[in-house]
Amino acid sequence: MVRVIDAMSIRIKGLKKKFGSFVAVHGVDIEVPEGKMLVLLGPSGCGKTTTMRCIAGLEAPTEGIIELGGQPVFDSQRRINVPVNHRNVGMVFQSYAIWPHMTVTENVAFPLKMQKLPTAEVEERVAEILRIVGLEQFRDRGATSLSGGQMQRVALARSLVMRPAVLLFDEPLSNLDARLRDHLRVELRELQTRFNITSVFVTHDQSEALSLADQIAVMNTGRVLQADDPVTIYQNPHSSVVADFIGYRNIFPGAVRQGGDDGILFALDESSFELTSVHPPPPGEGGIFACVRPEDFEIEAHRPDQPVKPNTFIGEVTSASFMGSYTQYRVRSTTGQVIDVFHNRAPLDLPPGSPARLHVAPKSVLLLPMRSAS
Ligand SMILES: Nc1ncnc2c1ncn2[C@@H]1O[C@H](COP(=O)(O)OP(=O)(O)OP(=O)(O)O)[C@@H](O)[C@H]1O
Ligand SMILES: [Mg+2]
Repeated sequence: MVRVIDAMSIRIKGLKKKFGSFVAVHGVDIEVPEGKMLVLLGPSGCGKTTTMRCIAGLEAPTEGIIELGGQPVFDSQRRINVPVNHRNVGMVFQSYAIWPHMTVTENVAFPLKMQKLPTAEVEERVAEILRIVGLEQFRDRGATSLSGGQMQRVALARSLVMRPAVLLFDEPLSNLDARLRDHLRVELRELQTRFNITSVFVTHDQSEALSLADQIAVMNTGRVLQADDPVTIYQNPHSSVVADFIGYRNIFPGAVRQGGDDGILFALDESSFELTSVHPPPPGEGGIFACVRPEDFEIEAHRPDQPVKPNTFIGEVTSASFMGSYTQYRVRSTTGQVIDVFHNRAPLDLPPGSPARLHVAPKSVLLLPMRSAS
């Protein structure tokens, strides 16, 4: 039986990485408890891979502390830098990075052979891992004759066979088609929890992040903007930049007009349109944004003779896409906003060009600063 791995926690304090004068990572703090999965979510170039490479020991940070299992593997002030092969960290990349001239078995056995383990132990561990990742029947296949999903399983098996205390995944699923991605994502999460492997997983896919993570850290321009559990980050983003990343497609700049018992009246820039929110506006100076999820708008055909409730945009449908479980509409309002709506009931008869009205409840309007103060 594969033993449950003696997981190690990860603690990163003040991690900074410069390439020449360019600062790719600006003082990142991260903690991942033993056996948990942290997802780094952020746009291209925000420093996700650089952070992972620093944890693995493939990149020397400019400043900061990295501890695995409470032991420093990097500390700029104490001049500690444990080499990559002594960190017990596995990595799985977007590109499968498996050796094309070897069979599946040879690929997975390779790191154990490098450690000069006895042949019998190598064979036993490889067979066990191939069974776990569902590659038993491909064991003698050449690696290049595998599908993308199978290659990624080989890469995963090769990392798992080392029994790493920490596993780093850098967008491992993004080269796979949607169905396979979903399937492997579920398997991966199951393996990670079953074997209790402390993991960091990089993605720029919101749903991947929500479904995999114990904690999500949203990164932008080399900084962690917010780190929370998936439900908290989904329901309570601290800023419009985080909201944008977690699926609030409709982000309207504006200003608070008036606060009252019925809620806050928020005027959208560039029009006199007002939205009511029950949420308090952020303190301090600076721009405020009203953020609304596309699934929180109710859409219906607009008939001019009907009275219009508050918090209702009138406009014209500019696109309608049937997505199976929902229909995605884009509407241009008469007040100038472009609004995305996911309608998750039976499709409506609203082709492009139709007049439509969109209503949002005051509890679904978040008022957020662009960036949080912290
Ligand atoms: N070796 C390097 N030399 C110079 N700049 C680098 C180097 N590696 C990364 N960078 C820069 O650091 C920044 C962060 O890069 P990184 O690869 O960490 O981003 P990322 O968040 O992983 O992006 P992506 O989602 O596109 O993979 C980028 O602007 C990148 O160009
Ligand atoms: Mg990257």
